[in-house]
This record gives sequence, C-alpha cells and structure tokens, in this order.
Amino acid sequence: MAKPINVADYRASAQRRLPRFVWDTIEGGAGDEITLRRNRTAFSDYVLRPRPLVDVSRRDLTTSVLGTTISLPVMLGPVGAGRLVHHDAEPIAARAAANSGTIYCLSSITRAPEELAGVADGPMWFQLYIKPTRERTERLVRRAHASNYKVLCVTVDGAVPAIRERDTRNEMKPPVSPRARFLVQGAGHPVWAANFVNARRRLGLRGASEPAQTSLRDVEDEITSTWQPISWDDLAWLRDLWSGPLVVKGIMRAEECARLIGLGVDGIVVSNHGGRQLDGVSATIEALPEVVAAVGGKLEVYLDGGIRRGSDVVKALALGATAVLIGRPYMYGLAARGQRGVEDVLGILRNEIDNTMALLGCPSIADIDSSLVKRTGDTATARAPYPWTATPDGDGAPAERAVRMFS
Ligand SMILES: Cc1cc2nc3c(=O)[nH]c(=O)nc-3n(C[C@H](O)[C@H](O)[C@H](O)COP(=O)(O)O)c2cc1C
Repeated sequence: MAKPINVADYRASAQRRLPRFVWDTIEGGAGDEITLRRNRTAFSDYVLRPRPLVDVSRRDLTTSVLGTTISLPVMLGPVGAGRLVHHDAEPIAARAAANSGTIYCLSSITRAPEELAGVADGPMWFQLYIKPTRERTERLVRRAHASNYKVLCVTVDGAVPAIRERDTRNEMKPPVSPRARFLVQGAGHPVWAANFVNARRRLGLRGASEPAQTSLRDVEDEITSTWQPISWDDLAWLRDLWSGPLVVKGIMRAEECARLIGLGVDGIVVSNHGGRQLDGVSATIEALPEVVAAVGGKLEVYLDGGIRRGSDVVKALALGATAVLIGRPYMYGLAARGQRGVEDVLGILRNEIDNTMALLGCPSIADIDSSLVKRTGDTATARAPYPWTATPDGDGAPAERAVRMFS
C-alpha cells in the first residue's frame, strides 16, 4: 500500500475504509452540495502572483492566534461526528494538534469538556452550540472555563438542522443505533467495525452537556438540541459570561462586523460550515475579503471550508486571514491512519505552505500580502463539477475513481 502524499490521497483512503453511511456523514453537504463544491473550486479563481528576487533560503511558518503562537497557520476545527470515524477521535486530534504545534477546537456535541483536559499539552478551543435554555448553556460554558479551554468559539450558523440528503437517504439520524444497512455496510469494513463496537462497549455514548449521560435517549436529546437559533442578545450575554477570548464562527458578510466589534468579540471564522448548512452560500474564500475589509484589523479573521492544499492556506492569508481551520482533511487522516494520519495531513499542509511561500517570495507569514493573489474573474471553475464529490447513488466521478489508489 503506497503512502498517501497529499490530502486527496488521504481522502481516497478514508473513503475506502469507511462504511458508506459514515463516509456520507463526513463528506456530505446540504442540498445540492453547490456550496460544498464551491468552497473547493473557488480557490482556483484566485491566482498567485510570485514576488521574485527575495532571499527565501530560510522560511518561518509560525504565527500568532489570539496571543498563542502556532507553528503553522492551520488549526483543527470542531467536528462533532469524529467518533463515527474512530472511537478516540477527539483525544487523537488533540494530541496530533499539540504534537504539530497547533490548536485543536473541541466540538460541544461530542464529548464533555472535562474529557479532554490533560490528554494533550497544546492549547485548545471549545466550540459552543447554544443550548435550549440559558441555564444549560451557562453550565456548559462554566465547565469549559474550568477545564482550561483558552477560547470559546460560538457557532452561529445552526439555527435549524440542515437538509443533508445523503444522511436522509442513509436514514442516518442520531444516535447511531443498529440498523440492517449499517450492519451490512459495517461488516464490509471490519477494521472500522471493530473500532466502533469497541467504542460503544468501552466508552458508552455520552453527550457533552452532562457527563453522566449514558442512555441513547440522552445522546439523542443532546444532538437534536444542537440546532438552536442564537440571537444578538444571546451573544452579548455570552460575552459577559466568558472572560477569555470569544470567537464567532459562521460569519459570511460585512454587515455583522461592526456590531461584533462593538460587542467585544475577539475573532471571526468566515465559515459556511463546510457547505453543510445553507446550500447556495458563496465559497468562504469569496466572502473573506469583504469581512476583512469591514473588520479593518480590529479583530482577527480566520477562514475554513475547502482547504485541501497549502496554496489554499496561503491564498486565504494573502486575502487577510490570520489562520485557517480544517475539518474533513483531518477526518480523512484519522480514518486512514489514526493519529499518524492526522499528524501527516498537518505535515503535508505544512510542507505545501512552505513550498508555496518559498516560490512566492515569502520568508515569513508576515510577508504574505494581498499583492500575491488576484481574482481572475473566471467563475467558470466555481461552477464546474467538483471532481471529488461522489454522486448520491453512484461511486463517484471518473476523476474520483482515478484517485482511489490507496486502501
Ligand atoms: C462531519 C463534520 C462535523 C462537523 N461538526 C461541527 C460541529 O460540531 N461544530 C461546528 O461548529 N462545526 C462543525 N463542522 C464544521 C467544521 O468545523 C468546519 O466549519 C468545516 O468542516 C470546514 O470545511 P472543510 O471540512 O472543507 O475543512 C463539522 C464539519 C464536518 C465535516
């Protein structure tokens, strides 16, 4: 088995290793998956403009995120479904991030915040979905604070559950209870199945709000209560409650920025939830410039969605992002090779960022500026089919089959 050499290889390997219903849960997007595809393809609409004749014999990828130094401008974003991929998804991701010198953000719907305290010595963020009552939210936020998470990252694009048709077709509803098709699909992936069965036996399934929750009904309540409208009032209340840095995830336009600055928010993640919530939204790389302009340097701006290459990271930084977050790419690494896979995905991106910086003429992250990237105005690529996206009932486009070299 050849070793994956890029994120696309890891993706192909992950697809082979996971049963269809898990793969679709991780990979899928909302509606027609237009935004999912666009997140990826829109990067092609931005071309790089190399700055020659710069001494790039030494490069430095370190940067600072809300006062924390990280060794590359890529963080691991919150992924609530990681335990479908690997029973130890979150501790593995936390350790991989720490070993790679970056930040891991724990999703609030997968584990209690206390569970990760002490598993790794790197800095961690805690992502919050607001709960149905302020009492429940406050309890969870206080526990995150007591568990030493540095940053509270509030997700604001989940007012209602998204319509994800892959999950509908697979009858994939939380909690994952045995269903004939899951057993059949799982049996075809014995390594995954052994891991999953082991997870249920050893850990039980727990929601994040209440560490004592163990029944499937509790978990269902936890997950179905995830999708709640969150208002400006709620955000102002959270700002008062949380004394540390506050990041808002899910901003896609300029209009909200002044009010976020006024509230004392410290960072914004330009995010459309990886194309998993509202389909038809623009790609995040397209939304980034207007948010950066509206913010005017008064808070930090990050981007997630569609990052698969180091050059994507550099384009986001050139357009004003302080750093990026990834979701699916580290799930691919996790599915393919566990912790080594997550670390390798970060290593691959690190190497590609380094190479892009060298060839662009940037010895350091601070040298990456807007002169290095230009939008071509050619939106044809944004409309083209995304070659990696499987059709709901097929086994993928020809290009996708071609990259399935690794098992
Ligand atoms: C399977 C899956 C589960 C996710 N769960 C959460 C979550 O619990 N909280 C959250 O804020 N975002 C969640 N996201 C969104 C990611 O944090 C991130 O915005 C997105 O994955 C970025 O796009 P990318 O996958 O193309 O890198 C999830 C994404 C995926 C793929």
